[in-house]
Amino acid sequence: MPELIEKDACDLLQADHLAVKHLLVEYARLAMAGGDAAAADKLALAQKICSDLTVHAQIEEEIFYPALRKATGAGDLLDEAEAEHQEAKELIAQIQGLQAADAAMDDLVSRLACAIEQHVKEERVFLFTKARAAAGLDLGALGAKLKARQAELEA
Ligand SMILES: [Fe+2]
Ligand SMILES: [Fe+2]
Repeated sequence: MPELIEKDACDLLQADHLAVKHLLVEYARLAMAGGDAAAADKLALAQKICSDLTVHAQIEEEIFYPALRKATGAGDLLDEAEAEHQEAKELIAQIQGLQAADAAMDDLVSRLACAIEQHVKEERVFLFTKARAAAGLDLGALGAKLKARQAELEA
């Protein structure tokens, strides 16, 4: 079924934020439950969290941030956001280097969850607000570009 209302760039990125938050909460729930069954599910979840976040960060860096850099005076905020991506990527690389969803992975995923929570809040409160206020920024067209690139990277 076609979507009746096309998501603009901010809606699309915010939907990703909510989806990954859901996965992180699910991971935390399994970490509390413990046991072998939880460990197998945690490993699969951690892999999905890492790959989804990697694609999300990449489409922001390739498409969304450069468009904002051009259309808004948010250069400092974007520098900060890119540095936060770097920190998240380091945690993601460490998680992807682990073979089992053990206590070390629980610790890394929990650190990643804190970092992501803070980062997406800043994007929502500062960057999306600036994007929506920017004259000459076509968020609909930008959303379509993000969506196409996301599909390409996920394929
Ligand atoms: Fe981001
Ligand atoms: Fe984001």
